Amino acid sequence: MAYKLGEVMISREKISGRIKELAAEITKDYNQDNSVVLVGILTGAAVFLTDLIREMPEDMDVRMDFMSVASYGDGTESSGVVRIYHDLKQSIEGKNVIVVEDIVDSGLTLSHLLDILKARNPKSLKVCVLLDKYERRKTEVKVDYCGFKIPDKFVVGYGLDYASKWRHLKDIKSVVDE
Ligand code: PRP
Repeated sequence: MAYKLGEVMISREKISGRIKELAAEITKDYNQDNSVVLVGILTGAAVFLTDLIREMPEDMDVRMDFMSVASYGDGTESSGVVRIYHDLKQSIEGKNVIVVEDIVDSGLTLSHLLDILKARNPKSLKVCVLLDKYERRKTEVKVDYCGFKIPDKFVVGYGLDYASKWRHLKDIKSVVDE
Protein backbone atom coordinates (compact mmCIF):
# COMPACT_ATOMS: atom_id res chain seq x y z
CA MET A 1 0.00 0.00 0.00
CA ALA A 2 1.24 3.49 -0.81
CA TYR A 3 1.02 6.30 1.66
CA LYS A 4 1.20 10.04 1.43
CA LEU A 5 1.39 12.87 3.92
CA GLY A 6 -1.90 14.09 5.36
CA GLU A 7 -2.79 17.04 7.58
CA VAL A 8 -0.64 18.73 10.19
CA MET A 9 -1.42 17.07 13.53
CA ILE A 10 0.97 19.12 15.69
CA SER A 11 2.50 22.27 14.26
CA ARG A 12 6.13 23.32 14.64
CA GLU A 13 4.99 26.29 16.77
CA LYS A 14 3.11 24.02 19.16
CA ILE A 15 6.06 21.63 19.38
CA SER A 16 8.52 24.39 20.12
CA GLY A 17 6.23 26.00 22.72
CA ARG A 18 5.70 22.70 24.52
CA ILE A 19 9.45 21.93 24.51
CA LYS A 20 10.14 25.23 26.27
CA GLU A 21 7.59 24.25 28.94
CA LEU A 22 9.08 20.77 29.35
CA ALA A 23 12.60 22.20 29.71
CA ALA A 24 11.33 24.63 32.36
CA GLU A 25 9.64 21.78 34.26
CA ILE A 26 12.77 19.64 34.13
CA THR A 27 14.99 22.54 35.19
CA LYS A 28 12.75 23.19 38.20
CA ASP A 29 12.63 19.52 39.23
CA TYR A 30 16.43 19.12 39.11
CA ASN A 31 17.09 22.48 40.70
CA GLN A 32 18.75 20.97 43.76
CA ASP A 33 21.46 18.89 42.05
CA ASN A 34 21.46 21.12 38.96
CA SER A 35 22.70 18.19 36.87
CA VAL A 36 21.04 15.75 34.53
CA VAL A 37 21.94 13.26 31.80
CA LEU A 38 19.48 13.19 28.90
CA VAL A 39 19.54 9.80 27.18
CA GLY A 40 18.04 9.87 23.71
CA ILE A 41 16.85 6.65 22.13
CA LEU A 42 17.86 6.59 18.48
CA THR A 43 16.74 7.24 15.95
CA GLY A 44 13.42 8.96 16.46
CA ALA A 45 14.27 10.92 19.64
CA ALA A 46 17.34 12.64 18.15
CA VAL A 47 15.34 15.57 16.77
CA PHE A 48 13.36 16.11 19.98
CA LEU A 49 16.37 15.75 22.26
CA THR A 50 18.54 18.19 20.35
CA ASP A 51 15.81 20.84 20.56
CA LEU A 52 15.04 20.08 24.22
CA ILE A 53 18.66 20.30 25.36
CA ARG A 54 19.04 23.79 23.89
CA GLU A 55 16.21 25.05 26.10
CA MET A 56 18.05 24.04 29.26
CA PRO A 57 19.80 26.81 31.23
CA GLU A 58 23.50 27.52 30.66
CA ASP A 59 24.39 27.17 34.32
CA MET A 60 22.99 23.66 34.60
CA ASP A 61 25.22 20.60 34.13
CA VAL A 62 23.36 18.98 31.23
CA ARG A 63 24.84 15.95 29.48
CA MET A 64 23.59 14.25 26.33
CA ASP A 65 24.08 10.61 25.43
CA PHE A 66 22.36 8.18 23.09
CA MET A 67 21.39 4.54 22.92
CA SER A 68 20.30 2.61 19.90
CA VAL A 69 17.96 -0.26 20.64
CA ALA A 70 15.58 -2.44 18.73
CA SER A 71 12.95 -4.68 20.13
CA TYR A 72 12.51 -8.14 18.78
CA GLY A 73 9.06 -8.71 17.39
CA ASP A 74 7.02 -10.09 14.54
CA GLY A 75 7.69 -7.05 12.40
CA THR A 76 4.63 -5.07 13.34
CA GLU A 77 4.60 -5.25 17.11
CA SER A 78 7.49 -5.04 19.52
CA SER A 79 7.98 -7.87 21.97
CA GLY A 80 9.70 -5.63 24.46
CA VAL A 81 12.84 -7.74 24.44
CA VAL A 82 15.40 -5.11 23.67
CA ARG A 83 18.67 -5.59 21.86
CA ILE A 84 21.26 -2.86 22.34
CA TYR A 85 23.02 -1.82 19.12
CA HIS A 86 24.80 1.20 20.57
CA ASP A 87 25.25 1.73 24.27
CA LEU A 88 25.85 4.85 26.36
CA LYS A 89 29.33 6.35 26.30
CA GLN A 90 29.23 7.38 29.93
CA SER A 91 28.45 5.63 33.18
CA ILE A 92 25.11 6.69 34.70
CA GLU A 93 25.89 5.40 38.18
CA GLY A 94 24.83 8.00 40.74
CA LYS A 95 23.51 10.34 38.03
CA ASN A 96 20.10 11.88 37.43
CA VAL A 97 18.98 10.29 34.18
CA ILE A 98 16.07 11.15 31.92
CA VAL A 99 15.30 8.79 29.05
CA VAL A 100 14.07 10.82 26.09
CA GLU A 101 11.82 9.15 23.52
CA ASP A 102 9.91 10.49 20.55
CA ILE A 103 6.92 8.21 21.16
CA VAL A 104 5.64 5.62 23.58
CA ASP A 105 3.21 3.16 22.08
CA SER A 106 2.84 -0.29 23.66
CA GLY A 107 5.39 0.77 26.27
CA LEU A 108 7.30 -2.48 25.87
CA THR A 109 10.55 -0.96 24.55
CA LEU A 110 10.68 1.66 27.28
CA SER A 111 9.74 -0.74 30.02
CA HIS A 112 12.54 -3.15 29.12
CA LEU A 113 15.02 -0.34 28.61
CA LEU A 114 14.22 1.12 32.03
CA ASP A 115 15.00 -2.26 33.62
CA ILE A 116 18.39 -2.25 31.89
CA LEU A 117 19.19 1.30 33.01
CA LYS A 118 17.92 0.78 36.58
CA ALA A 119 20.43 -2.04 36.98
CA ARG A 120 23.21 0.51 36.40
CA ASN A 121 22.29 2.31 39.64
CA PRO A 122 21.50 5.86 38.56
CA LYS A 123 20.60 8.29 41.35
CA SER A 124 17.24 8.85 39.66
CA LEU A 125 15.61 7.66 36.46
CA LYS A 126 12.76 9.42 34.70
CA VAL A 127 11.09 9.40 31.30
CA CYS A 128 10.36 12.23 28.90
CA VAL A 129 8.37 11.52 25.74
CA LEU A 130 7.20 13.88 23.06
CA LEU A 131 4.16 11.81 22.07
CA ASP A 132 2.15 9.41 24.18
CA LYS A 133 -0.12 7.02 22.27
CA TYR A 134 -1.69 6.05 25.56
CA GLU A 135 -4.52 3.96 24.07
CA ARG A 136 -2.01 1.41 22.75
CA ARG A 137 -0.31 0.65 26.06
CA LYS A 138 0.35 -3.03 26.81
CA THR A 139 2.46 -2.52 29.86
CA GLU A 140 2.44 0.24 32.42
CA VAL A 141 5.19 2.82 32.02
CA LYS A 142 5.41 5.95 34.13
CA VAL A 143 5.84 8.92 31.83
CA ASP A 144 7.18 11.79 33.94
CA TYR A 145 7.27 14.44 31.21
CA CYS A 146 4.89 14.23 28.26
CA GLY A 147 4.73 16.58 25.30
CA PHE A 148 1.39 15.58 23.83
CA LYS A 149 -1.09 12.74 24.32
CA ILE A 150 -2.23 11.58 20.90
CA PRO A 151 -4.90 9.18 19.61
CA ASP A 152 -3.98 5.94 17.86
CA LYS A 153 -3.22 7.54 14.50
CA PHE A 154 -0.28 7.01 12.19
CA VAL A 155 1.96 10.09 12.44
CA VAL A 156 5.35 11.08 11.03
CA GLY A 157 7.73 14.00 11.15
CA TYR A 158 9.90 15.66 13.76
CA GLY A 159 11.93 12.45 14.12
CA LEU A 160 9.13 9.97 13.50
CA ASP A 161 9.32 7.90 10.34
CA TYR A 162 7.47 5.63 8.03
CA ALA A 163 9.95 3.14 6.51
CA SER A 164 12.77 5.57 7.43
CA LYS A 165 11.12 8.47 5.57
CA TRP A 166 9.76 11.83 6.75
CA ARG A 167 11.83 12.19 9.93
CA HIS A 168 12.97 15.61 8.71
CA LEU A 169 9.54 17.30 8.67
CA LYS A 170 9.25 20.29 10.97
CA ASP A 171 5.60 19.51 11.80
CA ILE A 172 4.05 16.24 12.92
CA LYS A 173 1.69 15.08 10.19
CA SER A 174 -0.71 12.25 9.64
CA VAL A 175 -0.14 9.62 6.96
CA VAL A 176 -2.99 8.58 4.68
CA ASP A 177 -3.59 6.04 1.93
CA GLU A 178 -2.77 7.33 -1.50
C1 PRP B 1 9.77 3.73 18.31
C2 PRP B 1 9.96 4.69 19.47
C3 PRP B 1 10.15 3.75 20.63
C4 PRP B 1 9.29 2.57 20.27
C5 PRP B 1 7.98 2.71 20.97
O1 PRP B 1 11.02 3.36 17.85
O2 PRP B 1 11.05 5.54 19.28
O3 PRP B 1 11.49 3.37 20.79
O4 PRP B 1 9.07 2.62 18.85
O5 PRP B 1 7.18 1.58 20.74
P1 PRP B 1 6.63 0.66 21.93
O6 PRP B 1 6.15 1.59 23.03
O7 PRP B 1 5.49 -0.08 21.28
O8 PRP B 1 7.71 -0.24 22.39
P2 PRP B 1 11.25 2.55 16.47
O9 PRP B 1 11.43 1.10 16.81
O10 PRP B 1 10.20 2.93 15.49
O11 PRP B 1 12.69 3.09 16.03
P3 PRP B 1 13.15 4.55 15.54
O12 PRP B 1 13.23 5.42 16.77
O13 PRP B 1 14.48 4.30 14.93
O14 PRP B 1 12.12 5.07 14.55
